Amino acid sequence: MKQQGLYGAVPLAHHFLRGRLAAGDLVVDATCGNGQDTLLLAELVGSDGQVWAFDLQAEALARTGERLAAAGLQQRVQLIQSGHERLAEFITAPLQAVVFNLGYLPAGDKAVVTVAATTIAALAQAANLLRSGGFILIAVYTGHDEGAEWQAVQQWAAGLHPHSYNVWQMRQLNRGETAPFLVVVERSG
Ligand SMILES: C[S@@+](CC[C@H](N)C(=O)[O-])C[C@H]1O[C@@H](n2cnc3c(N)ncnc32)[C@H](O)[C@@H]1O
Repeated sequence: MKQQGLYGAVPLAHHFLRGRLAAGDLVVDATCGNGQDTLLLAELVGSDGQVWAFDLQAEALARTGERLAAAGLQQRVQLIQSGHERLAEFITAPLQAVVFNLGYLPAGDKAVVTVAATTIAALAQAANLLRSGGFILIAVYTGHDEGAEWQAVQQWAAGLHPHSYNVWQMRQLNRGETAPFLVVVERSG
């Protein structure tokens, strides 16, 4: 079956990014992987914007770098080989968006996978770095760790104060309960 349109958490995240990002924005891809999210971010922030793209794996950064170079957009992106749990060591600027696409590198080493402790540490730093109106998008997979990470993400997001953050979970109702879902955290105050 060919999947199109808003099938899955990633196309929904991209729809959101296209609607909310503008030229000059400062944004982070916390899990750059094959670079699809990084490429869209680089396109949307324009030549005056800046993207920081994190991944633990050199292979992921290389794939992302190739994708950016093919599009001529590598100048807008700083590739950082580090865990995203060190986000705040690299970035102090108020951010418009931080994108997380959890799980493992497609067609890569499945042993290197996002895990609850470091994901939550990174999310907490990202939430603090958001400017007013800035947002975090988290594509969450339920299949890879028997629930520890996706439940930790839900718990963390649900605990954010509603005076300061608007928090949403979006799930496709016509797919199974284990289908990936999208969490959106917007800084409102
Ligand atoms: C699902 S993939 C990301 C896909 C990517 N956004 C894309 O467009 O292709 C998840 C990535 O997270 C990376 N990763 C795992 N733990 C990480 C961590 N603590 N910090 C940063 N990246 C991590 C993996 O190496 C993997 O490349």
